Amino acid sequence: STTQVAIVGGGPAGLMLSHLLAGQGIESVVLEARSRQAIHETVRAGILEHGTVKLLVESGVSDRVLREGDRHDGIELRFNGESHRIDFQDLVGESVWLYPQTEVFADLAARREADGGDVRYGVSGVSIEGAETDPALTFTDGDGRESELRADLVVGADGSRSYCRGLIPEQTRRRYFKEYPFAWFGILTDAPRSSDELIYANSEHGFALISQRTEIMQRMYFQCDPRENVADWDDERIWSTLRQRVNGNGFELKEGPVLEKVVLPFRSFVQEPLRHGKLFLAGDAAHTVPPTGAKGLNLAIHDVKVLFEALDSYYRTGSTGGLDTYSDVALGRVWKAQHFSYWMTSMLHAAPGDSEFDQARRLGELNSVVSSRHGASYLAECYTGWPSPRA
Ligand code: DHB
Repeated sequence: STTQVAIVGGGPAGLMLSHLLAGQGIESVVLEARSRQAIHETVRAGILEHGTVKLLVESGVSDRVLREGDRHDGIELRFNGESHRIDFQDLVGESVWLYPQTEVFADLAARREADGGDVRYGVSGVSIEGAETDPALTFTDGDGRESELRADLVVGADGSRSYCRGLIPEQTRRRYFKEYPFAWFGILTDAPRSSDELIYANSEHGFALISQRTEIMQRMYFQCDPRENVADWDDERIWSTLRQRVNGNGFELKEGPVLEKVVLPFRSFVQEPLRHGKLFLAGDAAHTVPPTGAKGLNLAIHDVKVLFEALDSYYRTGSTGGLDTYSDVALGRVWKAQHFSYWMTSMLHAAPGDSEFDQARRLGELNSVVSSRHGASYLAECYTGWPSPRA
């Protein structure tokens, strides 16, 4: 069979692209290795930039984000036992939304299904020939049938373990890596909210992040060793670690049973360029950020927005201008987000082996951000999301 755009990967990036293309009458087929349920059950970050929310709402994916999500007009940075609010509305006139990113996937999957989109879950053995000039995909469908698909163009939105990014020849690509000597221990807990806003805490015992999900379920993280095993952590050990890092000066966490535990790795990664012939990379397939600041999904959705506008213009007018500039335009924001995620990480976490100077300097950095309208505005602008370049 044939289609216009073959999309490898049915996570938020792949589904969003397929949805936007369908709105312009452009055909696509989405191939996803996992089951719909397995993707939905993977706990992810909870923060959406205003631009991500706008695209979800305006493209008709979800108004649930506005009804069930919570608008957050600021965050707290907590260090030396004191909280300092960064007021996004006052500083840059924008907000973010707390809405679990798994719900973004659920909304997209439901929308594609309702619109009769061709999204195939449980696909294995995807192989692509001719990505440069004339793409032909072979794969095994969820029901075991061998299939072939020819497409005008292929989009690799197949996540951090991407097959597609390896199709770009070594001589024409460049990879950037950074590893960090720590990870996050993430929990879901059956407890009421401890705070209305997110708290990013630096302490002499390490970093912690207090986030939320619902009235009765909360999400929290604390810095840990990357080799930490969740089985070694019972509820009391988890809560005493969190208490030590955030309680004090009248603030006390509301505790409850721990429902889910996971260790999240920290990596920064970019592969450039995002295009090779008829193949385009989007989202985690091309770049990974450490979780501090929750940029991963937001960045993937931005790639897709830029790529969609390029594809739309190509199919409407035959112009390849947008496709030709896609990589550079998307990478502009990718590197801003790489910097922001790295900066928030390094400003809030002490690395093992850091000296007293390193930690004292870090407090100086935090103080210079919270005590300056310019510093705080910079953080607020990055956190809520930079304006998108016009196509
Ligand atoms: C969440 C995760 C993040 O990485 C972050 O910076 C903020 C919030 C979350 O899961 O709620």
